[in-house]
Amino acid sequence: MTMNSVAPRLGILASRVRFEEKSIMTALEKRGGVFEHLDPRTLSVAGGTTWTGPDFVINREVGHYRALYAASALECVGVTVLNTAAATHVSGDKWHTSAALLKAGLPTPATSLALTSDAALKALDELGYPAVIKPLVGSWGRLVTKVTDREVATAVLEHIEALPSPQAHIVYLQALVGKADRDIRVVVVGGEPLGATHRRGDEWRTNVARGAVSELCPLTDEITDLATRAAAAVGADIAGVDLIEDEEGRLTVLEVNDRVEFRGFQSAHPEVDVADRIVDLLLARAAS
Ligand SMILES: Nc1ncnc2c1ncn2[C@@H]1O[C@H](COP(=O)(O)OP(=O)(O)O)[C@@H](O)[C@H]1O
Ligand SMILES: [Mg+2]
Repeated sequence: MTMNSVAPRLGILASRVRFEEKSIMTALEKRGGVFEHLDPRTLSVAGGTTWTGPDFVINREVGHYRALYAASALECVGVTVLNTAAATHVSGDKWHTSAALLKAGLPTPATSLALTSDAALKALDELGYPAVIKPLVGSWGRLVTKVTDREVATAVLEHIEALPSPQAHIVYLQALVGKADRDIRVVVVGGEPLGATHRRGDEWRTNVARGAVSELCPLTDEITDLATRAAAAVGADIAGVDLIEDEEGRLTVLEVNDRVEFRGFQSAHPEVDVADRIVDLLLARAAS
């Protein structure tokens, strides 16, 4: 790999190289081919020393904690990371995200946080059934659980109590939004929504990772406004904003993903090159 003393040194942080990471690497190659692949599995950063690696890095690490601490460590030695560690801290955690969305005055489903099972049962009585219990950190719809009544909730909370991690005992609860069989994914890069897709699936969790298909969704003014404000609320320069329609047809913000998977979005939007736009943003940051 050649080094150029003037050109910014670009990098991608990723342990797994999937469609998204490959696309970003191809986009980086198109711009001159000088980039470094940082693998979190072999990465260590010595705080307070001079960093000799890339100065501008796209964070594509799948694991939330690895992504968060790698970003923080890289920032500590002067690297610009997209997204920032602060954005990953907020959007990688469902409660921090809900708090940020509410603070920004964005519509989001009724959400409660409970610190014990007893408190969770009380909060569920107030939210009403059916409701949803989610892990604070997670993706692909994993462990996102629909609780239909108090009996099911009690059983789920017993399972939660048996989990070893203290963090797992913090219960994130949400009213179930009576949507159709789909939600909306908006990809936002540098404050600009690139487009939207409907994600339609056979089960109520319409994650592409669970087999949902991505279909074109027109980017209305309302979707544009909500997605832009939601990405800004969590401080994410690159974001996958999930919106969901409530019973009254009102759009609410479900969550913001800071290391967005865009395979489904890209297939529904051949006219946009998401990876290219991400690299454009990185280069713009490097030039400023
Ligand atoms: N409150 C809710 N009401 C209705 N459906 C929901 C609700 N929360 C989540 N879902 C469904 O479950 C999916 C996964 O939930 P989400 O909060 O996005 O977690 P993950 O980070 O695992 O994707 C969503 O895309 C949506 O289809
Ligand atoms: Mg999601």
